[in-house]
Amino acid sequence: MNTTSRLFSSAVLAVFLALTSLTSAVAEPKLKSLRGSEIQGADTESADPFKSEKDRAPIERNYVQQPPLIPHKVETYTVTKNFNKCMDCHAWTRYKETGATKVSLTHFKTRDGQELSNISPRRYFCMQCHVPQADAKPLVGNRFQAAEGIGH
Ligand code: HEC
Ligand code: HEC
Repeated sequence: MNTTSRLFSSAVLAVFLALTSLTSAVAEPKLKSLRGSEIQGADTESADPFKSEKDRAPIERNYVQQPPLIPHKVETYTVTKNFNKCMDCHAWTRYKETGATKVSLTHFKTRDGQELSNISPRRYFCMQCHVPQADAKPLVGNRFQAAEGIGH
């Protein structure tokens, strides 16, 4: 490299560095709705803290096939590949001493209809279907009625 080209390349580098520092100093673009109006408070509001419900009587089901809601806290109940805290109380070997409802017989059947002697892999992650109950009022009025056959 001769002197001229060395000077030239360092000039290019200097311009490049100046540009990158300029662009990084520019503020983040403002959030906008699809129609282009600004979203009020979008960058100031933080999420509400997770609200943990107290243990209380189970809310009745609305139809027979509904996964019942969980009437107790679940925060420390972890389910991993090797250990399922829910089954610690809900297993057929445990429910008598814990007072929990035993898992449904349907939870022993595999996807292909094979009956297993323990919880089926497709029912292993309980909270895919069962969620803690909350006394949440409907956001929009509706005429929903529980299905017939549930007996309430
Ligand atoms: C320390 C024991 C214990 C553990 C651990 C536990 N439960 Fe329970 N669970 C209970 C008891 C006791 C009841 C019955 C409460 C009642 O009927 O008032 C219950 C009720 C339920 C019900 C309602 C059943 C029905 O027929 O209404 C569901 C669903 C449930 N638990 C799911 C879970 C899930 C999912 C987990 C894991 C995240 C879990 N439980 C962990 C003790 C436990
Ligand atoms: C794929 C969805 C799904 C998963 C995963 C699942 N359940 Fe259920 N569960 C249901 C449905 C639906 C019902 C109600 C119909 C039935 O009995 O199959 C039910 C019923 C129950 C009942 C009530 C049984 C009764 O006799 O009334 C308990 C207790 C329960 N599940 C616990 C669990 C636990 C504990 C796990 C995890 C080990 C689990 N479930 C995983 C869908 C699921």
